[in-house]
Amino acid sequence: MSVRHFLTLLDLTPQELNQVIQRAIALKARHQSGQIDEPLKNRVLAMIFEKSSTRTRVSFEAGMTQLGGSAMFLSSRDTQLGRGEPVEDTARVLAEMVDGVMIRTFSHAMVEKFAAYSSVPVINALTDDFHPCQLLADVQTFVECRGSIQGKKVVWIGDGNNMCNSYINAARQFDFELCISTPEGYAPRQDLLDANADRVTLEADPQAAVAGAHLVVTDVWASMGQEEEQKIRERDFAAYQVSPALMDLAAKEALFMHCLPAHRGEEISLDMLEDPRSVVWQEAGNRLHAQKALLEFLMMS
Ligand code: CP
Ligand code: NVA
Repeated sequence: MSVRHFLTLLDLTPQELNQVIQRAIALKARHQSGQIDEPLKNRVLAMIFEKSSTRTRVSFEAGMTQLGGSAMFLSSRDTQLGRGEPVEDTARVLAEMVDGVMIRTFSHAMVEKFAAYSSVPVINALTDDFHPCQLLADVQTFVECRGSIQGKKVVWIGDGNNMCNSYINAARQFDFELCISTPEGYAPRQDLLDANADRVTLEADPQAAVAGAHLVVTDVWASMGQEEEQKIRERDFAAYQVSPALMDLAAKEALFMHCLPAHRGEEISLDMLEDPRSVVWQEAGNRLHAQKALLEFLMMS
């Protein structure tokens, strides 16, 4: 079988995604009870970062070590990629030396091109369009707290960004209902909305959107690369802050998630992360376990 990549959630079947989530939960339990699993002994993951990261870098690096392999941090500033070496050349060279490549960059097309030339698995660790690894952690967290996410109502509040686009793909693959509440002009990709109109709805009013929600999710108002829009976005998104009061309008058992980093006083109120409905620390920790399961799936298949 040809090499498997993970550029969006659509690269794995729903069955494979659920298998990864279950494996993540099992690997977490084994790790927490002190068991050592090293299926990726001597395997190497190259990690190309063209944007900042805390969670993604640490979880991939720690994950590879725990699985018996290693990870190599490559900043675009210090590699020939940053000096204009073509993506297709870099992809073929790295595939001669490592067993997988993780990329965090701006253009999704760059990651697609890299994957097209790579004979080893390529993992999208965030582009301007998608952040699929975060969705694995989010779904794992929901499953741990509430059981299957199938048929549940998830509400996205805020910017129609890379995380929101990935939630649309997740709605399709994990079979849940998604309601998206964004200010005018900040909707997610129209092609994704069109392709998933059977399960994704738009509701501009955040208070109406969260009614009956089992999960409420938000993210920063200005993503990496949009720093110069910060002020105008603060104005445009002012009515889209998630707070305990907004959560009170959701279902009684609703959870709150945020991929982090968060801006208290902007997309969340000062007290939102401390609210008992917030599971953001568990969600962040699950980046490690979900990606270990993903690495094992991609590198062993
Ligand atoms: N959530 C997330 O991807 O965090 P980092 O930017 O710190 O990797
Ligand atoms: N939407 C955010 C997510 C950060 C993890 C960004 O792209 O900056």
